[in-house]
Parts: sequence; C-alpha cells; structure tokens
Amino acid sequence: MSLIEQINSEKLPKHIAIIMDGNGRWAKQKGMLRAFGHENGAKSVRTTVETCARLGVGHLTLYAFSTENWNRPKLEVEMLMKLLINSLKNEVKTLSKNNIRLNAIGNLDRLPKSAKKELLEVIEATKNNDRMVLTLALSYGSQEEIISAVKAIAVKVKNNIISTDAIDESIINQHLYTQNLPNVDLLIRTSGEQRISNFLLWQIAYAELYFTPVLWPDFNDEDLYAAIVSYQNRERRFGKTSDQIK
Ligand code: FPP
Repeated sequence: MSLIEQINSEKLPKHIAIIMDGNGRWAKQKGMLRAFGHENGAKSVRTTVETCARLGVGHLTLYAFSTENWNRPKLEVEMLMKLLINSLKNEVKTLSKNNIRLNAIGNLDRLPKSAKKELLEVIEATKNNDRMVLTLALSYGSQEEIISAVKAIAVKVKNNIISTDAIDESIINQHLYTQNLPNVDLLIRTSGEQRISNFLLWQIAYAELYFTPVLWPDFNDEDLYAAIVSYQNRERRFGKTSDQIK
C-alpha cells in the first residue's frame, strides 16, 4: 500500500510544526552557495503548505527564522529577509486560492520594516480564510516567548488583575505568542539533527517527535506522508496507561 493510502484522514494531526533544517548542507553538497539552499527550501515550503491544506491539516507552523539566526553572517540574514518578502509577495494569491490564513509568531519588531509590512499585509489579506492556519515563526525563540509571558503575568498579578493562585496552564497559554493555536501534535525536524533548538518548548509538551535525515530542500510529499503515517501508528497516552485510553 502506498504511503498516502496508509493515511487515516480521521486521525490527522490537528497541528504539525516543522523545523526546516539542512538548506546550507544541501547547497554545499551541490557545490553551491547557502542562498541556493534557502531558495530551494522556499520551494519545499510551498509544496508542504499546499499538501497539508489538501490533506485537511488544520494548523501548520514553520520555524522560518529563530532569534539565534540573527547571529548569522549579515549577508545571509539579508538574503533570508529578501526571500521572505518575495515569497510573501508571490504566495499571497496561492494562500487565498487555497483558503489559507497566514499568521506569525515571534518578536516581529526585530524584522526589517519592509518585511514586517509585507507580513502584516498578507496576514490582513488572508484573515478571513478558514481552511488552514499557516503560522510562520520569525525572529522566534521559545525561551524569549516564555519570558515575555511571565513578565506580562507578573504585571497583572502586581496590579491585582489576576491572583497568583489563578495562574494555570490556560493563563500561561493565553500569554504566549501561540495563544490562539492548539498544542502541537506532530513535530518534524529535517536534516538528521535531533534537537528542538528553542522551538515551541511549552507547546510540544505532548507532541510526537519525528526526525528525518532528509535535508529540507529535498523534503517532499512522500516524506510528509511518512511522518504522518509514523504519527498515526503511535499510541498517544498523555501520561495514562495503555488500557485507560482503549
Ligand atoms: C535551516 O537551514 C533553514 C533556515 C535557517 C531558514 C529557513 C528558511 C527557508 C526554508 C526559506 C524561506 C522560508 C519562507 C517561510 C519563505 P540551515 O541554513 O540551518 O542549514 P544547515 O544546517 O545545513 O546549514
């Protein structure tokens, strides 16, 4: 049976998050500059977004640029920002055609003005779409996100808006960048690295993790199907026993 035939459409992950890694190594293997890897990585973004929407996945979150990525060489950062702007310009029509809403998480104020402007425009243009939410993590760091949530909650406690006792999972959720997103069901990382790299630390508490050696520019529909099939073959117990969840 082919991979797509093995997918049970009743048991799809509601929220898939992806650490798109390996653009640089992919380019190096071909004797090309890193920029070539990122450009081809953008093509994988396009197909992955379309395929997730077609399958019926409700939320797709992509780690496009981390807070740590600001430390890359200036030229590479500039190139990535240009690629982001061009991709947003080129894809706004495809997003609308596929009824996909764009969303962004991260410290967006750190983005160059032109990139932030383009991003906000596409978010506005797609705000009524309701087939899938595509969230781009940009200038995103999970620890920074948690710190800002803690600070915001501390201010509310200080001003007697909420009591210390009222702080629970839901209050924390409401103060994260991801406040309107469900928790992640499936986290995929490409390129063979097996780490989380400061991505959605709170939100992946019970996510299934899937690591593939495929480099991001080579990641295709079959790789996505393989990740979903692997996810569907796992027993998600959320701390309970196997008998309890049957
Ligand atoms: C990781 O590869 C990739 C990134 C840091 C950037 C991700 C960007 C894209 C996929 C392109 C455009 C994105 C959008 C949303 C249009 P790496 O450079 O860390 O690869 P390496 O580990 O092999 O060096």
